[in-house]
Amino acid sequence: MERDSLDGKDPIPAGALAEAGLRLEIEGPVVTITLDRPERRNAMTPLMWRTMAEIGDALPEAVRIVVLRGAGPSFSSGIDLKTFSGGDGGGLPTTGDPEEGDRFIAGLQAGFTWLRRPEIVSIAAVHGHAIGAGFQLALACDLRIIADDTRYCMKEPALGLVPDLTGTKPLVEIVGVSRAIEICLTARTVEAEEAARLGLAERVVPREGLDAAVAELVAALLPIDAGAAAATKRLLRQAPDNTLAEQCAAERREQLGRLKAMFGG
Ligand code: ACO
Repeated sequence: MERDSLDGKDPIPAGALAEAGLRLEIEGPVVTITLDRPERRNAMTPLMWRTMAEIGDALPEAVRIVVLRGAGPSFSSGIDLKTFSGGDGGGLPTTGDPEEGDRFIAGLQAGFTWLRRPEIVSIAAVHGHAIGAGFQLALACDLRIIADDTRYCMKEPALGLVPDLTGTKPLVEIVGVSRAIEICLTARTVEAEEAARLGLAERVVPREGLDAAVAELVAALLPIDAGAAAATKRLLRQAPDNTLAEQCAAERREQLGRLKAMFGG
């Protein structure tokens, strides 16, 4: 698929998106992905996660911002519990070759990891419940604008599972290990005001103001030079894992790249 030729078109066929419970809008540099199963509170399926990975692969190069939102009363109620209702794990890797199981889960995680890509800024627009995989999807984004009715919950341990959709690293980076242990191992609800205090939201707004707040943030992000934005995000993303010396070296490298792009021949 030619990435540049996709501007203004849906890179994934509409039928495939609908089957996965997703909606996709591309408006120049801004992509909006809507979790679109409101009657199930946007419960998520392996097909939805794989389709999100496909969207990440097919994004036009011009895209700078990706907004994730949920249709209806909630952002997402997490994994579709019907997956487990047959008592056999619903196609999830329960037995068999561990390498195959590893590959299977990696394929689902791919639906989340691309949201950290330096070339884009990903924004979760969260309202209502963001449970389990829904909380992890919000954590996978760079920024979180949340409505005042937001209720985060890392429910997995209460169901005998672990959070495995890339959420544990950002959660720990944001709230610290002890608070992450407390939140996950009690599976309690974190409401909007506490979420903001813990750094799990860049901004809390009244429910009816969520779309406007996201639009405001998008308008503030877009004027920044795309190359400088990508280089800066690359730097900031690696900062927690680098020593000071490594980070200083990374800053020099990126700045030389910027100077060359701006003034070099
Ligand atoms: N999977 C499948 N169906 C769901 C899910 C889900 N995760 N969440 C909600 N639904 C369905 C309900 O069964 C209900 O269906 P029905 O209309 O046929 O009865 C419909 O969506 C509406 O749900 P309600 O519970 O009536 O909606 P309400 O707004 O009162 O509550 C809430 C929403 C809090 C999200 C509640 O539905 C809930 O607790 N859901 C389960 C959450 C959960 O345990 N998720 C798994 C987390 S672990 C992980 O993600 C890996």
